[in-house]
Amino acid sequence: MRVAAHAPYSRFRVGAAVLDAEGRLHSGCNVESASFGLTLCAERNALSTRVADLGRGGGAGLEDPVVVVAIRTDAETPTAPCGACRQWLAEFAPRAVVVAEAADGSTATWAVDELLPNAFRGDQLGG
Ligand code: THU
Repeated sequence: MRVAAHAPYSRFRVGAAVLDAEGRLHSGCNVESASFGLTLCAERNALSTRVADLGRGGGAGLEDPVVVVAIRTDAETPTAPCGACRQWLAEFAPRAVVVAEAADGSTATWAVDELLPNAFRGDQLGG
């Protein structure tokens, strides 16, 4: 999915794949905007693709756990997800193992709790 990246500004191409407990794979790439701050990262793209792929509406199916989130770049070392993606991971893939792979095939692995301890989640909204 990295090859699909739209990264004309940074030239930093990222691919992400989300594997759920049913064995379904949902993928995404980074999509940059000319208004740089509106850029969408590969991880959030893949997680939102999963919502669309489930096609059930109302969040049905999202309770099935995401097992693995894989990230691939052309960098020399594995790159951890950015802060915004960590928030999405905490909400949409809280029990996943996150595996990042660099160009040479080296990997780094984290639990989502490790990437974003004490995350804010929707169940704290109350009201
Ligand atoms: N990027 C991702 O896709 N995921 C991350 O977790 C970090 C950064 C993208 C955004 C931008 O297109 C490029 O990498 C450089 O920041």
